Amino acid sequence: MKICVIGAGYVGLVSGSCFADLGNFVWCVDKDKQKIDMLNNNQIPIFEPGLKDLINKNYSSGRLKFTTNLNLAVKNSDIIFICVGTPTSNKKGSADLRYVYKVVAELSLYINKFKIIVTKSTVPVTTGDKIEKIILKKKRKKLFEVVSNPEFLREGEAIRDFRFPDRIVIGANSKIATKKLKSLYDPLIKKGAIFFSTNRRGAELIKYASNAFLATKISFMNEISNLCEKTGVNVEDVSIGIGLDKRIGSRFLRVGPAYGGSCFPKDTKALTFTGTLFKTDLSIIKSVIKSNEKRRIFLTERVKKILSNKIKNKKITFLGVTFKPNTDDMRQSSSLLMIPYLHERGAKINYYDPSGEKKEFSRLKNVFFCNDINEACEKVDLVIIHTEWDEFKSLDFKKLYRKRKFKIYDMRNLYSPRDMKKQGFSYHSIGRQN
Ligand code: UGA
Repeated sequence: MKICVIGAGYVGLVSGSCFADLGNFVWCVDKDKQKIDMLNNNQIPIFEPGLKDLINKNYSSGRLKFTTNLNLAVKNSDIIFICVGTPTSNKKGSADLRYVYKVVAELSLYINKFKIIVTKSTVPVTTGDKIEKIILKKKRKKLFEVVSNPEFLREGEAIRDFRFPDRIVIGANSKIATKKLKSLYDPLIKKGAIFFSTNRRGAELIKYASNAFLATKISFMNEISNLCEKTGVNVEDVSIGIGLDKRIGSRFLRVGPAYGGSCFPKDTKALTFTGTLFKTDLSIIKSVIKSNEKRRIFLTERVKKILSNKIKNKKITFLGVTFKPNTDDMRQSSSLLMIPYLHERGAKINYYDPSGEKKEFSRLKNVFFCNDINEACEKVDLVIIHTEWDEFKSLDFKKLYRKRKFKIYDMRNLYSPRDMKKQGFSYHSIGRQN
C-alpha cells in the first residue's frame, strides 16, 4: 500500500519504518528540513533501539522516503497517518491540537482522490469529528474517511510493540475504512495480533483510558508500597500475589519513583480536561495525578531521611536519570525534581546515564555528569539507582566503594535486601524491609 506518515517524531518514525518493513511504500513527511536532511543522510534524530537499522534497511530498498513536501506525499498515498505531537496546552492540562489541525488544513488542499486519514497522534475523543469538518470545508465531494488508530508503543520497546501488539484498534465510521486498515495490518494479525474495530470516538477514548488505567495501576502499587514500609510487608510479594489474579494481571505493578515520560502525565491530565468539558468528574484519574506528583517529593524526603536529615555538602550519585531505561528521554522524569531539590539544599550530585549527559542539569553548579559508573560512585555518601538500565542490575558494590563506603537507595528494587544486608551494605529500597 502507499502510505504517508506526517510527523517524523517518535511515533511517525517508528510506525513509518515498520510499515515499510511490512512491504508498503511510505513517505515520511516533516516540515523540519533539518530533521529530513538528517534522515536522508543516514542520521536518526531520536534514540530507539533497533530503529537505525530498520530505517537504513527500508530506505535502501526504496520503500521508505523522507521529504518536506506534503503535497507530493499526500498525492502519492492512499492512507495518511497523522503522527504529530499533542502536548499539554495550558494549566488545565488539555491537549494542544494546534499541530494536528494545521496539518489537516494543509493536507486537505492536496486530496486528489479517495484517502483514508488516520490519527495515530493521541487525540481527545471527538477530535476526529472536528478533523472531518475541517476537510469538508475545503472539499465539496466526500473524498476521504477519518479514522482513529491509536498507538500503544512504549519508548525503548517500540519496534517490538509494533510487530507484536496485544491488539490493533481501529475506530472508523465506515466499513470501507475498517477493511482497508485491517488489510494493512494483516501481516501482524496473521502472526497473532488481535484486531478490534469500533467507531471513531470509541478508539480515541480507548487510547486515553488505556494510559490512564496503566498510570492508575502504577500509582496504586506505589501507594501500597508506602503501606508495606509501615507494616513490614514485602511489596514485591503483594505485586505477585495480586497479579496472579487474571482479572488484575501481573504487568505494570512495578513500584518506582513516579511514572514519567511524554505520555502518562500528559494523557491523564488531558483526559480529566475532557471529563470537565463533558461535565463528567473523573475523580479517580485526578487522584492518580495528585498521587504521582506527591510521590516525587515523598521519595526525595526519603533521601533526606537516609542521610539523617543532613543533605548539605553530601555527595549523592544518581545512576540513571531518564524516566525509564533504553531511551534518552527526560520528559517528566522524577530526576528533574529530585536533583534540583537536593542541589538547592547543598548536595553535590554526580550522575551517570547510559544515554549521556543531559542539558536539563547543565545550569546547576554542583551537578556533574560522569562518564562511567566507577567515576560516578567514587567517594560519595549515597548512590541512588533511579532508572533500571540493565547495566545497573549486577553491580559489584564492594569494588565501587573501595575508597569510601556509601549508602544505597535502590528506587527500582533491583537487588535483594537480604543479600545486600548479608554483604554488609547500607541498603534501602521501596516497600521492602531493609
Ligand atoms: C506508555 C504506554 O505504556 C504505551 O502503551 C503508550 O503507547 C505510550 O505511553 C504512549 O501513549 O505513547 P511509555 O511512556 O513509553 O509508554 O513508557 P512505559 O513503559 O509505559 O512507562 C511509563 C512510566 O511508568 C515510566 O516512568 C516507568 O518507569 C513507569 N512504570 C512502568 C512503573 O513505574 N512501573 C511499571 O510497572 C511500569
